[in-house]
Amino acid sequence: MRFPTDVLAVLTDPRTVIRDNRVHTPFQFDLAVWRRMNDVLKEMGATWEPRKAIRAHVFPYRIEEFLRHCLAAGEYPSKYEQGWFPTPPSLVMQICDLAGIYAGMAVLEPSAGSGAMTSEIARRGGLVDSVELDSRRVEVLREQGDSRKVIAGNFLDLDPLDYAEGFDRVVMNPPFSNGLDHIKHAIGFMKDDGILVSVMTQGLTWWSDKATVEFREMVEEVGGEIEALPDDSFAMCGTNIKTCLVFIPGYAGGPLRTHDWHQRQPKQLDLFDFAAA
Ligand SMILES: C[S@@+](CC[C@H](N)C(=O)[O-])C[C@H]1O[C@@H](n2cnc3c(N)ncnc32)[C@H](O)[C@@H]1O
Repeated sequence: MRFPTDVLAVLTDPRTVIRDNRVHTPFQFDLAVWRRMNDVLKEMGATWEPRKAIRAHVFPYRIEEFLRHCLAAGEYPSKYEQGWFPTPPSLVMQICDLAGIYAGMAVLEPSAGSGAMTSEIARRGGLVDSVELDSRRVEVLREQGDSRKVIAGNFLDLDPLDYAEGFDRVVMNPPFSNGLDHIKHAIGFMKDDGILVSVMTQGLTWWSDKATVEFREMVEEVGGEIEALPDDSFAMCGTNIKTCLVFIPGYAGGPLRTHDWHQRQPKQLDLFDFAAA
């Protein structure tokens, strides 16, 4: 959901103090704008605390870093529209630790949003290539400047063979509606000895359709894991959506269609040239 322009102006005003779990606007502005801001912050999970010593919107958790991402993107995840939600900072740390991101590694973030993960990857010295479908978030990623490359477009349309080298790590929090397609496609960009870590809906742990069952079997075969995350993992996005973490280690010669697997396939063009000779 987009922030109303006047609310965004107040929240990004240098006099507004966003610290820890509080949003404090210690200056006079139009009451109608205050009401709109109140609606937005309440929708995000805050309550207005009128006591003189506080007089701020107070969240039940730390909101500082999360709100910074929302303000940079100009939008916030609402209860009513959950396609976009930036990964909360503590979960970003957990994902980057699990992936084992070190300086100099090539890292892919295939649904990068407003860069909640790219900033931490870059802080660890990772060389991150970001893909994002939404043009406004693409601008945010470019302005943020963490990424070695920002690709604007549909990740599912990218061809792993357009990349000479695979990626050491893939970290992602894809749209859940077709998250499995995103994860399977992302495996094609990872090196044989790479690691992929993804957030996904917890449905992945129990859905019984053929594609999900085969995916779980494949994860097990390569020594990966799918682990449920605590129910409050996305509480700061105003949702208690149940999620899990998928961990897939590279596994040469196994069932994973990695970047190296794609490179090993016979090139149809070469076959054609041979036939023509
Ligand atoms: C749940 S958000 C996560 C954002 C970011 N990964 C993070 O952790 O904060 C999913 C993002 O994927 C983007 N997206 C959706 N479909 C996409 C696609 N086909 N290719 C690239 N990005 C896509 C959405 O615009 C959204 O920003």
